Amino acid sequence: MCGIVGVLGNHEAAPLLVEALKRLEYRGYDSAGIATLNEGHLDRRRAVGKLVNLSDLLVHDPLAGKAGIGHTRWATHGAPTVDNAHPHRAGPVAVVHNGIIENFRDIRADLAEKGIHFSTETDTETVALLVQYYMDQGLSPRDAALETIKRLEGAYALCFLFEGEDDLLIAARQGSPLAIGHGEGEMFVGSDAIALAPMTNQITYLEEGDFAVITRDTLEILDSAGRPANREIRAVSIENTQVDKGGHKHFMAKEIAEQPKVIGEAIMHYLSEDGKSVVLPGAGLDFTGIDRLTMVACGTAFYACLTAKYWFEQLAGIPVDVDIASEFRYREPPIPARTAALFVSQSGETADTLAALRFCEGRASTILSVVNVPESSIARESDLALPILAGTEIGVASTKAFTCQLTVLYMLALKAAHDRGALDADRLADLLSQLRALPSAFNTALDRSRPMADAARKLAEARDILFLGRGLMYPLALEGALKLKEISYIHAEAYASGELKHGPIALIDKHVPVVVMAPRDGLFDKTTSNMQEVIARGGRVLLITDEAGASEAADDAWITLLMPQVDALLTPILYALPAQLLAYHTAVAKGTDVDQPRNLAKSVTVE
Ligand code: G6P
Repeated sequence: MCGIVGVLGNHEAAPLLVEALKRLEYRGYDSAGIATLNEGHLDRRRAVGKLVNLSDLLVHDPLAGKAGIGHTRWATHGAPTVDNAHPHRAGPVAVVHNGIIENFRDIRADLAEKGIHFSTETDTETVALLVQYYMDQGLSPRDAALETIKRLEGAYALCFLFEGEDDLLIAARQGSPLAIGHGEGEMFVGSDAIALAPMTNQITYLEEGDFAVITRDTLEILDSAGRPANREIRAVSIENTQVDKGGHKHFMAKEIAEQPKVIGEAIMHYLSEDGKSVVLPGAGLDFTGIDRLTMVACGTAFYACLTAKYWFEQLAGIPVDVDIASEFRYREPPIPARTAALFVSQSGETADTLAALRFCEGRASTILSVVNVPESSIARESDLALPILAGTEIGVASTKAFTCQLTVLYMLALKAAHDRGALDADRLADLLSQLRALPSAFNTALDRSRPMADAARKLAEARDILFLGRGLMYPLALEGALKLKEISYIHAEAYASGELKHGPIALIDKHVPVVVMAPRDGLFDKTTSNMQEVIARGGRVLLITDEAGASEAADDAWITLLMPQVDALLTPILYALPAQLLAYHTAVAKGTDVDQPRNLAKSVTVE
């Protein structure tokens, strides 16, 4: 969602704020703004659209001052206009906000009764007006902010700047992440450590309900009960905060190309020294104590869970429920005894997934997470957090995080199967050795990826595209359709191949390309029968398969894309690559914004 940043520095704040916002732009890019204090005088600049528009504005109309706050927005309340852009200001206070103030209408009505007027449609303006109101009553900036926070319901990360207070920032966190950066006689605030990486790697993560009073030399934190709290300062690894395209045209292209490396690193992280078993961090987990698994996630991470369901059920014999996080909590599902709850999230901050995790606290026998950000809320609130080690993912469309999630989930399923006696040591060692060869299969597929770009140029002409898959390829078909629609804006839907004849087949004609994902596995014949049903109705099939599959079915296909042969269990990880590359090249052919597709944001911290 929105990205926020604050600087109390010894140099000009505006360039630092813009640099930090650049690193946070993946969180939202509807509009951006900064406010600074210049000799005590508060002023701000805001612009609609990408951050570059704000940078341009600042060239013509600069802002001086060594203290400031900044914001990049993903609109929730109010259209992306300059008036609705942050920072919001009311008299002596400016504020940036990530999240949603759920009771803003009540506060608004209350303030309106007091004759206080609004100039925007946002929930955030009520926060600024409330602080101003309390300051007008004689409260100090600190106490006014504290009183304001007590009135707020919903999710927020807030950072305040006050006229005349050159050495003061106030920050508060409830439901949306916030990090404080420590410099030499300087202090910073950011939605995440990545934003602050050029300035410092010394980070304090605020906990839920924390209220922080920040000067250049001091940091006072009050916890949710108003008691002074000590939060540790951690040194965040710079490697995990690097943000550059590494010579690629887009972050997404770079992240796709990184997959052999990061998947290899994830494998080695969880492999025992002799390479024959799976080792979990800390106290680990013994799957003999578990009868059921409930997996919960959103978006691409949800499709990783759907894939893992096949692995856990087939290999380990553990029944698995998979839920979309936003549905799970409000359904209030019963959680039987001896159920492990597993949450998958790249960011570790997705509001719905976090809320689902909290629902399971005290209900599930253990809470596991598979996350990319080890310091995230989801990781910190889990009994066992398994990092996926994908490195920073900037492209809004998830790629390497997806395949690393799958890799870690596969290894977890293998461990579960072995713990429960469903997989003997030799078979486990054999499957692990095949997994170790996966990065090299990825490299081969990347080397042969040119035909995917050619095929994508043809897909770019379509208005609707269907994806079909069966078994392990079904969740992947869903992921392929999601990737394509989110970055190319072509309408795409995925179906289990066998479900086609129960309705979707009515959509088939020569204008609707059908992508069929079908390695030559035990279900191949069934999938190719469904493919024939498409062809018989004039449909054009883009078949993704291996050499064995192509020798049987390529003749009937419109286009065939060849993948290296891997063990059937590993195909969903490998076949993610053509799904990603088809979407990528289609988007490039259409000229859409690959890394920052319209209306989307990478880290969704509102429900
Ligand atoms: C957003 C992103 C998706 C992502 C989903 C879940 O919608 O655009 O790429 O899959 O959130 O995010 P998470 O960080 O929990 O994996």
